[in-house]
Amino acid sequence: MEKERVDLPQSEIPVSWYNVLADLPQPLPPPLHPGTGQPLKPEDLAPIFPMALIEQEMSPERWIPIPEAVRALYKIWRPTPLIRAVRLEKALKTSCRIYFKNESVSPAGSHKLNTALAQAYYNKMAGVRRLTTETGAGQWGSSMAFACQLFGLACTIYMVKSSYHQKPYRRSLMHIWGGEVFPSPSDRTQSGRAILAANPETPGSLGIAISEAVEDAATHEDAKYTLGSVLNHVILHQSVIGLETKRQLEMIGETPDVLIACVGGGSNFGGFSLPFLPEKLANPKLRIVAVEPSACPSLTKGVYAYDYGDTAKLAPLVKMFTLGHTFIPEGIHAGGLRYHGTAPIVAHLAKLGFIESKAYTQNAVFEGALQFARTEGFIPAPETSHAIRAAIDEARKDDGKCIVFNYSGHGHFDMSAYDSHLAGDLEDYEHPEEKIAEALAHLPKVG
Ligand SMILES: Cc1ncc(COP(=O)(O)O)c(C=O)c1O
Repeated sequence: MEKERVDLPQSEIPVSWYNVLADLPQPLPPPLHPGTGQPLKPEDLAPIFPMALIEQEMSPERWIPIPEAVRALYKIWRPTPLIRAVRLEKALKTSCRIYFKNESVSPAGSHKLNTALAQAYYNKMAGVRRLTTETGAGQWGSSMAFACQLFGLACTIYMVKSSYHQKPYRRSLMHIWGGEVFPSPSDRTQSGRAILAANPETPGSLGIAISEAVEDAATHEDAKYTLGSVLNHVILHQSVIGLETKRQLEMIGETPDVLIACVGGGSNFGGFSLPFLPEKLANPKLRIVAVEPSACPSLTKGVYAYDYGDTAKLAPLVKMFTLGHTFIPEGIHAGGLRYHGTAPIVAHLAKLGFIESKAYTQNAVFEGALQFARTEGFIPAPETSHAIRAAIDEARKDDGKCIVFNYSGHGHFDMSAYDSHLAGDLEDYEHPEEKIAEALAHLPKVG
């Protein structure tokens, strides 16, 4: 009988993370100092990150051992199951096989805890007392709050103002796990106050929240900053997803034809799909598909250029597909996908043609989510639903392919978004070309 669910024993939780930097066909353009425009040196990052993470950010090593303390905590929910979506396949009357890697089973409900635990661990080892971070949808903030709780660290979270009001229960999770949460922009930082003065009604953005969290860490001796996506070390920690998936597919004799994940900053996409890069380099027919919202189309409509990772220009300049650091996205429900840029690793591989990208509007995404929920039962996060929508469209080709997507998180705190969709109240939004051109006019003149 065909297996509907593939589980690994806990002894098979990976012992090392996979560092895709070792296998890139061309080296990554270096990050630049936001003040000088010169290539960044490790010590430039020291005010905001502990040295162990800075080393991982730049490491050429293919395998980086997972500390035993982190691996022991991964056992709370890892390995995560790989599930065949047989009921969805049947409803679609497709000859394709559809599998999903279920990262929603972590306590905080998404893949974000894979790196939150690792980042909290290295900061704790470095003697840090408090971590600062930003959050969009609240999945990252809640994961970071839980990780800090486990390692006895204080946690300060700047939550994008529109999500702060849209997702009160994600905020409750952060409070339960001991985090303090502020709507961003806030009056606690210079960058937040400047933005509020210019536009008191702003809904906020991840770019603004990052500026606040970086400033808070850089101006307090005992605090450091953590980022939930984009950076190389975050994609490194997320590689446990792809490494487990590879092993699970091997166990049932499957070879993937199409790998799909949604992209906000690129961490679940990178962690899930990039451990397959050696296979992709050997077999160009393997497709790797990144899915994003039409309201924040960095990969499909942005430009590949050096840009700031945040609005106040405190974070390093990185080469990425960007909509411009001044970009303020519409308040779509996939809060975790409203970021102006992309992980440099993901952008680089997209530019080199190893990654495809596509964008969907939110009603199309929620239709996919409903079809999935009504067949498979699980209720996906709006972010995750982008990958589901793309997987459904691939399966509709009915060409016998093996499709695997990353189920990055559940949508249990997104009921108001589902209610709006069911009531026909969700607006579709395509980011207009003029707005893109306007934001791109502010790109820094470097590189
Ligand atoms: C469930 C879920 N999936 C995906 C994302 C997108 O982030 P990333 O691109 O870093 O995986 C988020 C971000 O908050 C999320 O909460």
